[in-house]
Amino acid sequence: MCGIVGFTGTRSAAPILLDSLKKLEYRGYDSAGLAIMDTGLIAGNKPEGTITVSKVRGRIANLCEKTCDGELLPGLTGIGHTRWATHGAPTEENAHPHLSNDGRFAVVHNGIIENYLTLREELIADGYHFESETDTEVIVHLIEMYYKGSVRDALIKTANRLSGSYALGVICSDEPGKIYAVREASPLILGIGIDENFFASDVTALVNHTRNVIYLEDGEFAELSKESIRIFDVSGQVIHKKTKRIMWDVQAAEKGGYEHFMLKEIMEQPGAVKATIAPRIKNGKVEFDELTDLIPYLPGIRKIIITACGSAYYAGCAGKYALEKLCKIPVEVQLASELRYSDPLIDEETLVIVISQSGETADTIAAMKECKARGAKTLAIVNVVGSSVATISDFTVYTWAGPEIAVATTKGYTTQIAVLYMIALYIGDSLGRIDGDYGKMVETIQALPRRIQQAIDMNPGIPAFAKKYHESKALFFIGRNTDYAVALEGALKMKEISYLHAEAYAAGELKHGTIALIEEHQPVIALCCNPSIMEKTLSNIVEVKSRGAEVLALTFRSNQKILSVADDLLFIPKVDALFSAVIEIVPLQLLAYHVAKENGCDIDKPKNLAKSVTVE
Ligand code: M6R
Repeated sequence: MCGIVGFTGTRSAAPILLDSLKKLEYRGYDSAGLAIMDTGLIAGNKPEGTITVSKVRGRIANLCEKTCDGELLPGLTGIGHTRWATHGAPTEENAHPHLSNDGRFAVVHNGIIENYLTLREELIADGYHFESETDTEVIVHLIEMYYKGSVRDALIKTANRLSGSYALGVICSDEPGKIYAVREASPLILGIGIDENFFASDVTALVNHTRNVIYLEDGEFAELSKESIRIFDVSGQVIHKKTKRIMWDVQAAEKGGYEHFMLKEIMEQPGAVKATIAPRIKNGKVEFDELTDLIPYLPGIRKIIITACGSAYYAGCAGKYALEKLCKIPVEVQLASELRYSDPLIDEETLVIVISQSGETADTIAAMKECKARGAKTLAIVNVVGSSVATISDFTVYTWAGPEIAVATTKGYTTQIAVLYMIALYIGDSLGRIDGDYGKMVETIQALPRRIQQAIDMNPGIPAFAKKYHESKALFFIGRNTDYAVALEGALKMKEISYLHAEAYAAGELKHGTIALIEEHQPVIALCCNPSIMEKTLSNIVEVKSRGAEVLALTFRSNQKILSVADDLLFIPKVDALFSAVIEIVPLQLLAYHVAKENGCDIDKPKNLAKSVTVE
């Protein structure tokens, strides 16, 4: 997904922007570019304010090479961009920054301009010439058209013409030393330095330089010089916003000795789940200070809808069982991309739980807005503080997983489920509907970080299984009930990073069609961690084995029946099945990781995928 950075100060801008762009590489991109403004104060031989653009297709490394690590672009002010193609192929022409016809403005943009075709026709009729196929280019020509000596006015007029989502970075050759930022439905953060200021679409691009930040909100504009930051609204009124301090450790956003971010993040799960759970358990009770205002609404809630995309959706599938059992409220889990267009039966008696690691997933945001418009209360489970989902929802519970860099989520997913378990206990208890041993359930949840570590330690054989299975044509994951929910995520992890065809099936559905695919040596990964349904899954294992399948079963060490029929085994410690999904997924994450490694895949940045899907 695209990334934006901007810098103004007393140091050379290009090397700083290149470094910041590298921090955004994890988001996925196909081209990159810089626009640097010559301030006439350092070795540039162009007039003050001249904007020079350099763009490449492919990696930031190519941009470093093309610009001699930025040395060929002298100047103290600039903007940069990594592009993930939407409108127009990933070419140098389509890469950002885009220049106005008079060369006075350069623009970088994240998001999509929905009315760009109409605007493009209008601008062409007015004599503007287009260099690219992008939706972005209309922005820079509009700014040129509206510019009558005030960049601020031109930006406000331009923003009034745009429909869609945008985070913009703009420089103008008439104002050397200034960078402008505009936000509408796409993240943008200002970084405050000493004699220098920054903006970026993601804090990871800022933390090497400053930890003091301001989160821009929709409809806000910012004018940054090395000494000052001014923020104004659509009417041009100056607004004052609070500075926040980023507490993330720089090291936390780097690999910390592991070969890949994904492996580091898998190993961080005991800590991430503990950080998420611990502050919310006080004196043996689950407490959410952030949800006290929800309590009065709970007796009137007739239905819970969980909505999300990808792994966050699968986290919802896993958490549904605990919510239904402990709260005695029917729970539906719906894909956000489907819900938003489904004219859903949602009203004031519905609680909508929205799950998103990034908090910026376009479909999830749209689904949440749709639910809010129908009167539902929305409760978001989010990892990124100040993100759009967190800002829009009525209630927000943060997962404290820390920054997740690998595109394939791991600790994001497990912390989401941990929060769902605790919300189930919190709501169930508030409504007085828990009929099991509440104290024991809280203890089970408190023990989850330890159990995750055990699940990591119990499976030294995973690299060997990866060697055995990595050349398979397809991998099938089967399970029932809570095991099926985890199978869905296990299969997604496998396909997204190893590119193997992997599918999850509810084990009971095999004989309704899928079993036709089972042939000699077909690997089947069978999840058998839910005692209430174990005998049934065992029968399914026998069925596939009798057709030649090789079964890799995931179960407890004491489960003699499964041990005697499976070909290979993955283990987890024994945990109440209602709360075991966060443990079960861990060996499957490691299996996917090692299979991908065997297959030589780009594990942290799988092809065609982006970390944060901010467009539909
Ligand atoms: O940031 P979100 O949790 O909203 O992202 C949702 C999905 O895009 C995400 O979970 C995606 O499926 C991951 N690649 C899964 O590893």
